[in-house]
Amino acid sequence: MTTAPFTDEVADADAAHAVGPDYVQAVGKVISSHVRNELAGAVAFDEPAIALAPGPREKWLACRIAMEEYGHHLKFSRLATELGLDAGSGRTLSVFDYQLTSWAEFVVLKALVDEAEVVLMEELVAASYLPLRNLVVRLLPEEHFHVSFGKARTRELVADPAAVPVVQQAVYDLVGFTVPFFGRSVSANNEAFRAWGIKQRTNDESRAHWVGRCKHFVEGELGLRFPHVEPHWNG
Ligand SMILES: [Fe+2]
Ligand SMILES: [Fe+2]
Repeated sequence: MTTAPFTDEVADADAAHAVGPDYVQAVGKVISSHVRNELAGAVAFDEPAIALAPGPREKWLACRIAMEEYGHHLKFSRLATELGLDAGSGRTLSVFDYQLTSWAEFVVLKALVDEAEVVLMEELVAASYLPLRNLVVRLLPEEHFHVSFGKARTRELVADPAAVPVVQQAVYDLVGFTVPFFGRSVSANNEAFRAWGIKQRTNDESRAHWVGRCKHFVEGELGLRFPHVEPHWNG
């Protein structure tokens, strides 16, 4: 690991290997986690949402979102292959244990969980590894669309008082499942990512950023309760 801050821009896979194996390992971990989690999300949530969607227009939107999430998996996979990584192994995040049973839960999920993905991708816009930076710049508009779709459909739902309890429960459940998404407060991986200029924020800073955005949406825009979230999380 470097002692001085690493401020180089790394143009491609060959340049990453020239920096050294520690750099390849660090950038590889970030890419691999996106490879796994984009696929896990598409399989667990986005593809099942097509069947849960109540009408043709919602099915069309769910198809588009599922297509984009599978596409994110394939595009991160290409980066992993270029670096010579086997990105298929390793754990997926706890959020994918959430059992999706309704279209209402899906739209809340897109509003809150995809916001977590947006928070993680936004900081990679300044990543030292340029292929990763360029990819997230291309993918962020799609993730922003997923969040804005989720927010718009959730706002529509809560206009019906009968739907409020379902939305409130989904908020509580999904926030609980998503807190670990950002990693532990004490994280050697995150230290390496920051040392190599791949990420800028600590895991707790990213978590707090996500909580701030979601709390603003849930309390400020929906008028519902947002659960208390401790920014420190160590499993
Ligand atoms: Fe995605
Ligand atoms: Fe997404």
